[in-house]
Amino acid sequence: MFVKQATVSAPVNIACIKYWGKRNESLILPTNPSLSVTLSQDHLCSTTTSRTCAEYEENLLWLNGKEVKIDNDKRLNTCLQAMRKQRERYEAKYPNEPKISKWKVHICSENNFPTAAGLASSASGFAALAYSLAHLYDLPLSDPADISDLSLNARQGSGSACRSLFGGFVEWQMGRDDLLGSDSRAVQVADHTFWPEIHALICIVSDDKKGTSSTAGMQRTVETSALFQYRIQHVEEQLVDIKQAILKKDFDTFAKITMQDSNQFHAVALDTDPPIFYMNDVSRAIIGVVTEYNRVSIAAGGKRKAAYTFDAGPNAVIYAPGENMKEIIGMIIQYFPQPEPFKDPFLNEVIEGTLVP
Ligand code: PMV
Repeated sequence: MFVKQATVSAPVNIACIKYWGKRNESLILPTNPSLSVTLSQDHLCSTTTSRTCAEYEENLLWLNGKEVKIDNDKRLNTCLQAMRKQRERYEAKYPNEPKISKWKVHICSENNFPTAAGLASSASGFAALAYSLAHLYDLPLSDPADISDLSLNARQGSGSACRSLFGGFVEWQMGRDDLLGSDSRAVQVADHTFWPEIHALICIVSDDKKGTSSTAGMQRTVETSALFQYRIQHVEEQLVDIKQAILKKDFDTFAKITMQDSNQFHAVALDTDPPIFYMNDVSRAIIGVVTEYNRVSIAAGGKRKAAYTFDAGPNAVIYAPGENMKEIIGMIIQYFPQPEPFKDPFLNEVIEGTLVP
């Protein structure tokens, strides 16, 4: 029996300029361009194996061990069919290659972190899915333009997934082709070696599944929020400015825009009818701590030292130069005592936790 398989891992990405709103639901075309940082593969990632053989009778996926029928899931199916079509073209070009495009696939995907807790699990999941199928089908992957092409397929699984195909700082261009979405793709702004001083601290405030899915939330926002109309007209200016800040390694401006955009995204969610609250009291307290930390630095003649951002959930991501991280972790532990003994990654020692009152 001839079996072919490919295994890959893809990390999560956390947006500094958020994607929020679709202009085309089925093609997943955004109402604004976005920009994110892809985190390192070591911590939060999806690992996916795609396998095909002539004997398989159904297209199946196991997500963290739970079986899903791909043919019944619109997004999974769209992504798979798009990849298959590309394989068909490859087989037409190289007639001696095995005709695997007609065979069913079995896919196994695992996240090493809580799924759907506002930690971009669909981003890493669909990026890993598209990437593993591209390997399985021997599609070209050597050039950044090939990865951008692949991002068109990942995007149709989950919008933000297109950005997880690149490392470093990544832009998702919204594109103008409303008919096919052929130019709504991810491009790399700078790779992961460009600004290695920037670290990300992820504060898990809650690992519960989020209340309003991003799909439902976006749809409601587009339909009901007046503030959203303001946002989509101005967000591009912020994107141009943050790209410049990244290329100049200007953390102060990067931090200012990242926090402004997170605040605006959550304001837009609140302006939705009925309102959506993704952050909770702990999230807001983290904003307070980072704001005070920056205020003290600026008052002493310095600059911003950290930036918070929150996706569609209460968990915080704090971006900061690595040299500030020890101080930031110290503050977080001081203000938000850990319920479990906690291993400080810098001191490499276990800190006894106390229960949060
Ligand atoms: O790709 P989705 O449908 O999971 O939406 C992601 C939305 C945000 O995480 C809030 C913003 C973003 O750009 O990642």
